[in-house]
Amino acid sequence: MAQLWGGRFTKETDQLVYDFNASITFDQRFLPQDIRGSKAHATMLAAVGVITEEERDRILSGLDSILNDVKAGTLEITTKYEDVHSFVEANLIDRIGDAGKKLHTGRSRNDQVALDMRLYIRGEVSELEARVKALMETLQKLMDENLSTYMPGFTHLQKAQPVSFSHHIGAYMEMFKRDFSRLTDIYQRMNYCPLGAGALAGTTYPLDRNLTARLLGFNGPTLNSMDSVSDRDYCIELLSACATIMMHLSRFSEEIILWNSNEYGFIELDDAYSTGSSIMPQKKNPDIAELVRGKTGRVYGALTALLTTMKGIPLAYNKDMQEDKELTFDALDTTKGCLTLFNGMIATMQLRKDTMAVSAMRGFTNATDAADYLVKKGVPFRDAHGIIGRLVLFCIDKGCAIDELSLEELKAIDPHFEEDIYEAISLETCVEARNTIGAPGHAPMKAVIDENAAFLAGLTVDPA
Ligand code: ARG
Repeated sequence: MAQLWGGRFTKETDQLVYDFNASITFDQRFLPQDIRGSKAHATMLAAVGVITEEERDRILSGLDSILNDVKAGTLEITTKYEDVHSFVEANLIDRIGDAGKKLHTGRSRNDQVALDMRLYIRGEVSELEARVKALMETLQKLMDENLSTYMPGFTHLQKAQPVSFSHHIGAYMEMFKRDFSRLTDIYQRMNYCPLGAGALAGTTYPLDRNLTARLLGFNGPTLNSMDSVSDRDYCIELLSACATIMMHLSRFSEEIILWNSNEYGFIELDDAYSTGSSIMPQKKNPDIAELVRGKTGRVYGALTALLTTMKGIPLAYNKDMQEDKELTFDALDTTKGCLTLFNGMIATMQLRKDTMAVSAMRGFTNATDAADYLVKKGVPFRDAHGIIGRLVLFCIDKGCAIDELSLEELKAIDPHFEEDIYEAISLETCVEARNTIGAPGHAPMKAVIDENAAFLAGLTVDPA
């Protein structure tokens, strides 16, 4: 046990208590952030005259050597240390002696861990932005290539009206555009530096918090020292954004699973993104999509867990907050992994365009257009709706589509039908005549695709 706080105690900590309290097994992930923060702190301490420039230089090179040695595998992070902060400080003192003992001047582990978490989360926001952007680029390509790939659109999982594959994918594009903007918002709101808040009430040293914030790329320092050490809103916001991303991926996965099924056959997943069965030789399963759908629950769980952990904590720092890490790490790793795998899966899937078109032609997806045809011939819409309803019933009996009926059969149901009905309710017309903003016709789709292209070209990922 190598603790930072033995002076006041007359007994050793019980081993079980030590293990229960320690966080080194998981917060060692913060090593790069902890070192980066400590270097900024030491630089600031020297700038305001609390330590000498010589001490600063020894601290900076000592910190660099610790990070390098851990990366090189010559220095091991062990459970002998309570947490990553203790590990760094103890090793620094080992390496540079007394100057190392000055690093923690004007600082507490409370503001130190608050900083580490912020730096880590800020880096994760950038990473998530990059992955959402990569996914949107794949979606944009699919949209661009499939303006004339017709498929049925569904409501209640019943065939409703035909759309294009481009249009269907465009719906997800909108979701991920919102996800991206949520990440950007979180970044802006959280990008303030808590270091210098001390344990909870600032410090009597003349710290230059503006300088520390600048050195670490923050917009400025946080403005209340008690809030600084007890705020985890930005983690909650990011988990919430991740939960929404996962919800979108999960819905999309559900569709991929349906489309890839034998019954639909709209797509075929690449062998590299499918798995087999140990017993049934014919199987090719969409496990990746199922896992993405399944892992969504884990990310929701992390959000609920952190909200619940935070809800009863009085100001300022309390040890409950150590629980923020494992679940946040897990949720972020999960979301990043799912984004990348999902992207690879949809970038490599094959589209069965003919099957999609046949499916759109079956199932009366042109019934609304047939009713609209009668309206254009002067029949009031409510009457037209009734006529087409009877027509559909007739077709169901006969086992055919509306446009497979002869003109005589159509006229027998309503005399307004003419030869031009076939053109009016063809799959192509049904999609291409829908030209309002946001509809699946070529013209509005092109406009959206152009807008997306400009949006993607101008999209920058925030710095880590
Ligand atoms: N491991 C602690 C955490 O993750 C670091 C802060 C410890 N502060 C303290 N007062 N015990 O929250």
